[in-house]
Amino acid sequence: MTEHHGWTPGETAAKDPHSDPDHDRPWWQGAVFYQIYPRSFQDTPVQEWSAERRAAFRLSYPSRELDDAGGDGVGDLDGIRRRLPHLAGLGVDAIWLSPFFRSPMADFGYDVSDHCDVDPLFGTLGQFDRLVAEAHEHGLRVIIDFVPNHTSVAHPWFADARSSRHARHRDWYIWRDPVRPPGPDGDPGPPPNNWTATFVDGPAWTWDASTGQWYLHLFLPDQPDLNWENPEVIEAMHRVMRFWLDRDVDGFRVDVIHGLGKDPALPDDPPELVGIPHSALNDDPRTHPIIRDLRRLVDSFPGDRVIVGEVFLLSTALVAPYYGEGDELHLAFNFPPLYAPWEADAWRTRIDRTAAELDPRGAWPTWVLSNHDNARHRTRYGGGADRARAAALLLLGLRGTPFVYAGEELGLSDAVVPPQRAVDPGGRDGCRAPIPWEPGPSHGWASDEPWLPWPPEADGADAATQEDDPGSFLQLYRHSLSVRRGSPALRLGAFRWLASPPGVLLWERTHRGERTVVAVNFTDDPADLSGHLHGDWRVAVASDSPARPGTRFAGTLGPVAALWLQPA
Ligand code: GLC
Repeated sequence: MTEHHGWTPGETAAKDPHSDPDHDRPWWQGAVFYQIYPRSFQDTPVQEWSAERRAAFRLSYPSRELDDAGGDGVGDLDGIRRRLPHLAGLGVDAIWLSPFFRSPMADFGYDVSDHCDVDPLFGTLGQFDRLVAEAHEHGLRVIIDFVPNHTSVAHPWFADARSSRHARHRDWYIWRDPVRPPGPDGDPGPPPNNWTATFVDGPAWTWDASTGQWYLHLFLPDQPDLNWENPEVIEAMHRVMRFWLDRDVDGFRVDVIHGLGKDPALPDDPPELVGIPHSALNDDPRTHPIIRDLRRLVDSFPGDRVIVGEVFLLSTALVAPYYGEGDELHLAFNFPPLYAPWEADAWRTRIDRTAAELDPRGAWPTWVLSNHDNARHRTRYGGGADRARAAALLLLGLRGTPFVYAGEELGLSDAVVPPQRAVDPGGRDGCRAPIPWEPGPSHGWASDEPWLPWPPEADGADAATQEDDPGSFLQLYRHSLSVRRGSPALRLGAFRWLASPPGVLLWERTHRGERTVVAVNFTDDPADLSGHLHGDWRVAVASDSPARPGTRFAGTLGPVAALWLQPA
């Protein structure tokens, strides 16, 4: 591996071939990623905003008042920078920033109007550079969201494209004639095919009356799809990646990457799938060469950078090919486990499926329980703390790279968002509630009322309160991340099931002579493991009690609890 310029190696990043026997494994295999949704992480008092940001903000948001005595209630890049010590102290290795680019925010930043600038709502390019530099000093890698499937309607490319059929950028998007000429009332008739959009009820097509054609959007009408069949689009998007790689990002989480290639015939979805958004179905072979080019580009930069693809196809068998022959994605999200219920059998099946599909390709799995698009797992699993605590040891004990979503380490549930405060057309506000850093009323934010309501019981769930409580979620995550960091088996090791009682999953991870056993009890009854584990074991981490390193394992796994065990 080449040394990443500007990178101050942290503890886990040391890749000295003499001292690190795993120097041949890329850093992201042993890493834990932490997803930050910038709007919801931490705002900065307006009085601390730089003059450059204020000026840019006034230009972009002329009608918004800035309150010098408070904040604007939207998290920003300086806010993230201020919280870097929390992340370094938590023990994650890398952060993934959801979009902070210029955007009209119809999809809260996933509708990009300038891929190479920071929206003044979040800060400036200079503040981004400072964030990356300081994250690196803390030993944290930084990957950013890259949104290549679509732009905002407000992007200059689309503004030009829709100005005329002969516009310079017309073919950068996907246009189709009406099925029959519009009637005298201007009714364009049915759209070109039966694809449905995501987050809105209706076709994936919007009629552009002034140029007399439909344009395609797998998501909101505000998010027209780019035409990746056009080499100029490819070149322009490659330029975007280079722009950020030159600014020292460690890689990208690529949004809807399976959407890029499309069959130019745009065939109907099969009748039995109509109503499922086409974004969850698009799986065209043309995407693979596109990804191979992105991969070559990223690999051509020094320093082991990574592409994590969001392949939102709901079977692992469909996700696996996106790793290619080791020449496409380094990592791919695999969502079927996220949608699994809290049941041992369901999880066993998902884990087996993942190994069966990925192992033959030499592909390294990822695991994720929560993100900005889905109800938090604590909420999905019924709201109780026990399951969410056990789930932490499940997630961090699997073979693969785990992704933790900001606030998961505080055990947050989704906010209850009253209809008058709902803002997301996709109904995803609950999981995007602002992070409470301190006890109320403003929870460490510069504004008392951020853009979304606080999560439930924000007093007590806040990071400062949890800091002083040895039994808190925060201490559980911190302790398990530090045990994981010290365990080659947990970070990189092989996986083997051990026989277990019903409702319990028991597996072993091993690497270079080191062993850790993970036990997860999905049931509400204690489970006796004494017949299943031989020899003497000590508890490295227990989800149902504060850290008591070194305690001998007496053989019983508590109800709704998980353990990491190491040989005594
Ligand atoms: C991805 C993002 C989601 C966004 C969509 C459209 O699924 O995770 O938040 O709305 O793409 O860009």
